[in-house]
Amino acid sequence: MVSETIKDILKGYHKSNLINILNCIQKKEGYISEEALTYVSKVTDLPLANIYSMASFYSFLKFEGKGVHTIRVCNSPSCYLNNSTDVIKSVEKLTGLKPGEHNDNFHFEVGSCIGCCDKAPAMMVDDDLYTELDEKKIKEILDSKK
Ligand code: FES
Repeated sequence: MVSETIKDILKGYHKSNLINILNCIQKKEGYISEEALTYVSKVTDLPLANIYSMASFYSFLKFEGKGVHTIRVCNSPSCYLNNSTDVIKSVEKLTGLKPGEHNDNFHFEVGSCIGCCDKAPAMMVDDDLYTELDEKKIKEILDSKK
């Protein structure tokens, strides 16, 4: 059974906004379930395989519950040269997670540039961007998400 939240999301969107639809579902539900994908397919009249194929291209979309919050630490050159490895170690220490792992509260990923190289090292938690990180700042950020 699809939630009323998902039904409401689909009321306000046209199928040409598929990424926005899926992003809204993820924001409300934490991830995009198979039921939600099937419902989107039905309402938009787009084949389920096409929706999944397109959606799976985007690493920010999740298809299973992997913790409420997604941490993405940038490890591209500017961040790497500004100690992103220390950021990764801090996140590992504070969450008990290695990149690619998740618990009930966090999913931890290490990825490529998130567009604020001049303020490296940087990371995102869900849609929020954090820069010029050190362990104290990372702890405050992660504590605020618990
Ligand atoms: S290299 Fe990290 S934000 Fe661009």
